[in-house]
Amino acid sequence: MNIDRLKQIVLEAGEIVKEGYVSHKEVSHKGVVDLVTEFDVKTETFIIDQLKEAFPGYALVGEESHQGSYHYEKAIYIDPIDGTTNFVHGIPHLAISLGVWEEGEPVLAVVYNPILEELFWAVKGEGAYCNGKKLEVSTQSRLQNALIATGFPYAKVNAGVEYRWVIDCMTNLLPHIQDIRRLGAAAVDLCYLAQGKVEAFYEIDLKPWDVAAGILIVQEAGGEVSNVNGERYNFDDKSIVASNSKVHTQLLEKLEKI
Ligand code: IPD
Ligand code: CA
Ligand code: CA
Repeated sequence: MNIDRLKQIVLEAGEIVKEGYVSHKEVSHKGVVDLVTEFDVKTETFIIDQLKEAFPGYALVGEESHQGSYHYEKAIYIDPIDGTTNFVHGIPHLAISLGVWEEGEPVLAVVYNPILEELFWAVKGEGAYCNGKKLEVSTQSRLQNALIATGFPYAKVNAGVEYRWVIDCMTNLLPHIQDIRRLGAAAVDLCYLAQGKVEAFYEIDLKPWDVAAGILIVQEAGGEVSNVNGERYNFDDKSIVASNSKVHTQLLEKLEKI
């Protein structure tokens, strides 16, 4: 496996996203508030064509084309644009995310924000980096001083259990932390945690392509990832909780089980 080839692929794919960011876009709805543009599809098609050649033998699990299982012996999880709502609204918090997993473990990760030209990457056992600088999670150990990123699932529009969970967690958490950020791209939120900008991140209903790369980047920067029960996270879990490890237990105590 070659991290340099993976970086090269996202840098090239970034040109498509950059072009789309400043162009008029045809926007379609996958759900009531879940958007997709022609650039999500074009970027994913480009990435898949490149990966097929560069990484034969890997299942290619892309948000816009994949159907079926999330579990493979060797797979690459692809989010061509994480943060499509930001992309459509001209807000530069978005990224291309590629996470390579083997036998249930992340081994390589790249997350590239082509608008801000930030390239995050990690290799298992070799650390995590942004534009060549080594990443380390923050050393903050008091939940009250923690800035926490989260996201709201598209299912919120049904005002059902997911919506209730979001509100209940916020009710429990908000008085006991510094503040909440809802930035709009889970893959980048995880990179910001790895970079020490936020102390933790949690969300429900995420898909493997949202987190497959960010998990390794957090772990390699010294952070911790679990589900809301504090168990090892797996792609079938409804929840993910990631932190600098120092506030992990305190955060889990405030989050509702789901
Ligand atoms: C979404 C973003 C967002 C998160 C959503 C994701 P998309 O991905 O990561 O921050 O809250 O749950 O689905 O749809 O922009 O690729
Ligand atoms: Ca996504
Ligand atoms: Ca996406």
